[in-house]
Amino acid sequence: MTIPDIIIAVDGYSSTGKSTFAKMVAAEFGFLYLDSGAMYRGVTLAGLESGVIADGKIDEAALLPVMGPLDLHFRRDDGATKLYLGDRCIEKEIRGWEVSQYVSPVSAIPQVRAWVDDKLHAFAAGGRVIMDGRDIGTTVFPNAELKVFMTADPMVRAQRRYEELLAKGEKTTLEEVVANLKDRDYRDSHRPTSPLRQAADAYVLDNTHMTLHEELVWMLGLLQGKFGLLESPGLSC
Ligand code: DC
Repeated sequence: MTIPDIIIAVDGYSSTGKSTFAKMVAAEFGFLYLDSGAMYRGVTLAGLESGVIADGKIDEAALLPVMGPLDLHFRRDDGATKLYLGDRCIEKEIRGWEVSQYVSPVSAIPQVRAWVDDKLHAFAAGGRVIMDGRDIGTTVFPNAELKVFMTADPMVRAQRRYEELLAKGEKTTLEEVVANLKDRDYRDSHRPTSPLRQAADAYVLDNTHMTLHEELVWMLGLLQGKFGLLESPGLSC
């Protein structure tokens, strides 16, 4: 089965399983997976390490010269795409609590968004990419050949996130997770620059009651319908 070298944009609310879905589709259909949120997290980490983000404040004027020369890029590592700062793999640090606290306001800074968008365009230049984020189908790749907008019931999302955090050994309550999700949904969809919204030509995937296998079958149906791929491959999961 041949799927053309297209760009697939996957956007949606926090904790809807965008990255799990996008990684699964990438592995199944031979696409490069790129996590745009990781770039915002990388900029935030650099800001924290250089001290321009500290004590609950982001010094925006000082962050821009720190960000400019950053060598943030993705590398394929053990079959996964990981974010590097120079030669240092920063996948673990960017998922930590401190980066998570600051990344939303950092990602709302227009110059940061413009810088990240340039990098994302360069990374995707070879095509055959699936990228997840909040504004991929609306701003970064408005002409992406296929757009998916992911959503799920907020309580189901919160429960999933809560279980993930518990598994990582982090101490939190379901109430805290619900409050944090609501806050991030609000911030992401109300910022002036590139707010999270569904592109008019996006296909909505509400995975509240779906397994990963069902999501993959849904995607296969979409690809077949859109690109006329009638041959049905044996899905791996
Ligand atoms: O998907 P994530 O949680 O790793 O994203 C981190 C932050 O970056 C989140 O606050 C939303 C923001 N983000 C964004 O504004 N635009 C994107 N394309 C991707 C992420």
